[in-house]
Amino acid sequence: MKSILMVCLGNICRSPLAHGILESKLPESEFYVDSAGTANYHVGDLPDHRSIAVAKSHGIDISHQSGRQFLVSDFDAFDHIFVMDHSNFTNVINLARSNEDIAKVKLMLEVNANNKQQHVPDPYYGDMSDFEHVFKLLDKACAKLSKTLINESA
Ligand code: 4NP
Repeated sequence: MKSILMVCLGNICRSPLAHGILESKLPESEFYVDSAGTANYHVGDLPDHRSIAVAKSHGIDISHQSGRQFLVSDFDAFDHIFVMDHSNFTNVINLARSNEDIAKVKLMLEVNANNKQQHVPDPYYGDMSDFEHVFKLLDKACAKLSKTLINESA
């Protein structure tokens, strides 16, 4: 079983979407996907209602997810840790205990080498069009990532 953790700041907007989208593209018997926030603002909260709505409009249910904070033990529990932006990257790397921990952490949009934009913008203070944009960026990146992960495990 390979495990993948999606990380953003609050774990209510971007990483719950990345979590739900990637999960929908991988066989659940072989992959475990989760998400977390570097901050503790929304521990125990449902995803933002706009993330729930945009996911639902694309046939993905993320309404059962619950916010949690990133833990140092996540470096042991997960094979891959994908962060949404450079600030998330710094926050996670600051908690790393070894080069092995650091090697697990990647920017989500780097999975698509052709992608000029390297960060998933935070839609929290935006509107539904920002959430739709984030969904599209993540859906494209997760399509590529799911193929890579399935090939790696074959
Ligand atoms: P996320 O967005 O990191 O994509 O979940 C945010 C959600 C909440 C806050 C910031 C970003 N906040 O400051 O509460």
